[in-house]
Amino acid sequence: MVGVVGLGTMGAGIAEVFARAGLRVIGVEADPEALARGRGHLERSTGRAVDRGKLTGGERDEILGRITLTTSRDDLRDADLVVEAIPEILDYKVSLLEDLDRICKPETVLATNTSSLSVTAVAAATGRPGRVVGMHFFNPAPVMRLVEVVGTVVTEPSVVAGITELSVRLGKTPVTVGDRAGFVVNRLLLPYLNHAAVLLDLGLAGRDEIDTAMRLGVGLPMGPFALLDLIGLDTAYEIMGVLFDETRDRRHAPAPVLRELVTAGLLGRKTGRGFHGFH
Ligand code: CAA
Repeated sequence: MVGVVGLGTMGAGIAEVFARAGLRVIGVEADPEALARGRGHLERSTGRAVDRGKLTGGERDEILGRITLTTSRDDLRDADLVVEAIPEILDYKVSLLEDLDRICKPETVLATNTSSLSVTAVAAATGRPGRVVGMHFFNPAPVMRLVEVVGTVVTEPSVVAGITELSVRLGKTPVTVGDRAGFVVNRLLLPYLNHAAVLLDLGLAGRDEIDTAMRLGVGLPMGPFALLDLIGLDTAYEIMGVLFDETRDRRHAPAPVLRELVTAGLLGRKTGRGFHGFH
């Protein structure tokens, strides 16, 4: 049995991925309102698959039936694996991992879906750093086929191997990466997205021109501003901050326009407006 803590866009997607692979899942949120939002994510995502003829109604019910939703972390005591997908704030993650370390049986593997924080720092909060690992999914989790498996200097090799095998069972392709800011994907992707925002600010081209140029010129599914809106501008801004802190490379300095939109609360799809407006 697998636990997922945090049922926002990523956590709900991850819970769905596990349940689709036939695993029983316990999904945990902080309060009933957040739990209801998590249920909404799960129902919309699986409902869309039914509408598109990818799942039957019965299959959708079976998938949702494998997911138990709760506000009690204590329900995770017998989980074999717990993946956390709570907001990217180190203090929150450290306090959650301390809790999970106390609640879960000693063999439980604790995985973090962090996209920017140090897995080592999260592991050090527990009495079982060898059983803490990064399991980084991509947005939207049910669709994107990659999992970055992040081993730290103290992660037991068997834990890295176990998460790698599990990722294959989930229908994903795992890559093993080290615990450095951004891992592989965000280390390469985010500076590109940030640079698109710098070029927009410079007036090189408009938002739609840049999106179209990268979509059609490079064959990407989305242009940089559409992707920034999907990822969330706050998340993108935070990741750039972490890359800049670790590398001190001025090319990693967050674009001022990104900071401006984040400060104004325009965070992309999740708030209805970012570089593009959503209604
Ligand atoms: N949840 C579940 N399923 C979804 C979904 C969602 N949010 N969005 C799309 N899908 C599914 C659709 O149901 C559809 O499934 P089928 O093919 O089985 O019918 C499939 O994905 C394609 O969807 P659409 O036809 O609606 O749209 P599309 O073809 O334009 O694809 C997309 C949408 C998959 C998001 C595609 O545009 C894409 O791949 N974009 C790039 C996404 C990307 O780069 N993600 C990584 C972000 S970086 C990150 O996540 C790391 C981090 O730490 C910040």
